Amino acid sequence: MKMSSLKSSVKRTLGPKNVAYLKYKVSKFNLSKEYNWDKKKYYSNFSNVFSSDEHQLGAKITFNAHQLEKGLSHKNFRVGFGKNPLTQLSKNMQEYISRGYSKENKVYINALSCLRAYIEKHEELGEPLPEHYTKNFNFIKKEILECTSKIGGFDVVNINQKINNRVKDYKTLFENRVAIREYADEQVDISKIKEAITISMKTPSVCNRQSSRIRVITDKKLIEQSLKIQAGFNGYKLPPCLLLITTDTSAFIETKERNQVYIDGGLFSMSILNALEYVGLAACPLHTMFNVKDEVSTRKVLDVPENENLIMYIAVGNFNQENLYCKSFRNDAESITTFL
Ligand SMILES: Cc1cc2nc3c(=O)[nH]c(=O)nc-3n(C[C@H](O)[C@H](O)[C@H](O)COP(=O)(O)O)c2cc1C
Repeated sequence: MKMSSLKSSVKRTLGPKNVAYLKYKVSKFNLSKEYNWDKKKYYSNFSNVFSSDEHQLGAKITFNAHQLEKGLSHKNFRVGFGKNPLTQLSKNMQEYISRGYSKENKVYINALSCLRAYIEKHEELGEPLPEHYTKNFNFIKKEILECTSKIGGFDVVNINQKINNRVKDYKTLFENRVAIREYADEQVDISKIKEAITISMKTPSVCNRQSSRIRVITDKKLIEQSLKIQAGFNGYKLPPCLLLITTDTSAFIETKERNQVYIDGGLFSMSILNALEYVGLAACPLHTMFNVKDEVSTRKVLDVPENENLIMYIAVGNFNQENLYCKSFRNDAESITTFL
């Protein structure tokens, strides 16, 4: 018997209701298979503690260097900060060098540049370098001192540079958005947030199902509780406003769409970031990459039902007169582009 006639015979025998039920049951099996496939790919390729190819080590180096940039861009700078990231960065750079990877790679140059900025900041304040810096980086002391690249570290943006955001062209607006983590004390004008959300409604979504949702949180206690669990914003004053972006799983109809929840949410989040820049508000995207315990706690604090996927927070506030920010270098476009 041919496969197609076997299928129609099964359909006839079972009836449409049972066929639908069977399909539903099979979809559960398919979903586990697909998640297992995702798991296998992720587990074999992510940058784990033993990973040592150039990209994997590069990712770790960029992560450590960015931690330095964050410390350097604090308004209330803590002299000698960063024992952990400095130690990790040293270890990863030593391995990178010992494996003969390129010192022309921007990832490596950025790390040197951040380390140079660390020295300059301490010199500017007339403070000695901590022992965990000098000990860890003796092996490339000369390279750091001779590094002329300024791609790493921190910079300052003045509020006046944001005044004309509503009339800037797309390229200028996009290129000048940076993550701002410290805000002026006053409350955010909620009409600006509403405007940013309205603009972001134009974000494309898979088959136009518009799964994104957004919570605008201004209750200080809720912001405090949420960010305490989030833990990626430690050491900063609470933002006056926190957005939570989620996507609703009920907008999806097939198991193979399982990861679209993150695509829709990611696109929407980027639209919000750009729109906030357009309306003249300072913002910083913040992850919601939680283990089960932290996800459950966050859902409880903010009353987020299970059908909504946590995509990211965005801290929002008004610009200060002067705003320090991490430079967060970017790779060159050619280095990530393949023409086929
Ligand atoms: C999904 C996502 C999660 C992030 N999480 C954090 C975070 O937890 N804490 C933080 O200080 N910055 C966080 N950031 C901000 C990034 O560090 C920042 O966007 C990156 O360095 C690029 O800099 P730019 O936004 O100034 O261009 C996050 C960014 C994204 C997109």
